[in-house]
Amino acid sequence: MRQLRAIPLFLLMAVLLGALPAASPRLTRAAVQPRDTARDTARAPAGTLTSADAREARDVREARAARTGARTRAVVGGRPVDAAAHPWAVAISSRERFGAERSGQFCGGALVDVRTVVTAAHCLSREVLGVPREEVKDLHVISGRGDLETRSGREVPVRTAWVDPGYDSVTNEQDIAVLGLSEPLSQSHTVPMAAARDGAYAPGTAAEVFGWGDTSGTGAYASGLRAADVEMVEDSDCARAYPRSASGTFGGAFEKQSMVCAGTPAGGRDACQGDSGGPLVVKGRLVGLVSWGAGCGEEGRPGVYTRVSAMADAIRAHSG
Ligand code: ARG
Repeated sequence: MRQLRAIPLFLLMAVLLGALPAASPRLTRAAVQPRDTARDTARAPAGTLTSADAREARDVREARAARTGARTRAVVGGRPVDAAAHPWAVAISSRERFGAERSGQFCGGALVDVRTVVTAAHCLSREVLGVPREEVKDLHVISGRGDLETRSGREVPVRTAWVDPGYDSVTNEQDIAVLGLSEPLSQSHTVPMAAARDGAYAPGTAAEVFGWGDTSGTGAYASGLRAADVEMVEDSDCARAYPRSASGTFGGAFEKQSMVCAGTPAGGRDACQGDSGGPLVVKGRLVGLVSWGAGCGEEGRPGVYTRVSAMADAIRAHSG
């Protein structure tokens, strides 16, 4: 809320208006980015999501696509990777909500303890799931399944879900959730979280982002786990890429308290829709979770990630 006080009243009003169904166009990217992009993760065939909510979500998504044009483009420069070598990269799934194809995957996550997976808060939002999360009875974490069309690895039911109460769906701040698993996974499959002031956050540091998300910006979801090489971006550069006050970008503003950016100077390598919640890793340490961005891999528009070091205490306090 500290940030909100700094916001001029008229912007606040605009945001409140933007939260209404008929969002004003200038707020489109900002106010709906994580929600509608994540809706894009609902790649189940049309008709699978039969609820009015899901239909409404689709309508909103299509309306936004019409307004913004096809701004996303090919992933984002990834390559297939071996899931066994990156066992902490997990898929979050619900066949009930997203269909049986690709094991029902709709977001990514990272295994930080034997019973604890961290993911993005927006992955559990009603906008993504189409219904309140309490109504999704088959939330699972899938570990060690590189190819989602197979049955390899393990699929573990989610027993508890904690969504950071500070998560703000308009500003995307504190985009983190903690899932408690009903069965433990192997300790050797976990990834340690970066601590505050970890050198891993130094601008220019090589990082890798993992996911099963869109490889084309057109809904071409990968069935195999992929990774892209990016570098950590200086906070001030990211603040320039996503300014707080520029017209149309309010709410999509970079906030260094709970966010960190990664990308490449020329673009071309990035996370994309369906990668949300997935791990950004530097030297074996989890530094970020895929959260949002403008398009995918666009020059001057780095990916924005939840800053894990800032959330580590909360994550530990809510570990499964
Ligand atoms: N919000 C998206 C999702 O739910 C992730 C978008 C990441 N975008 C980016 N350019 N890094 O899957």
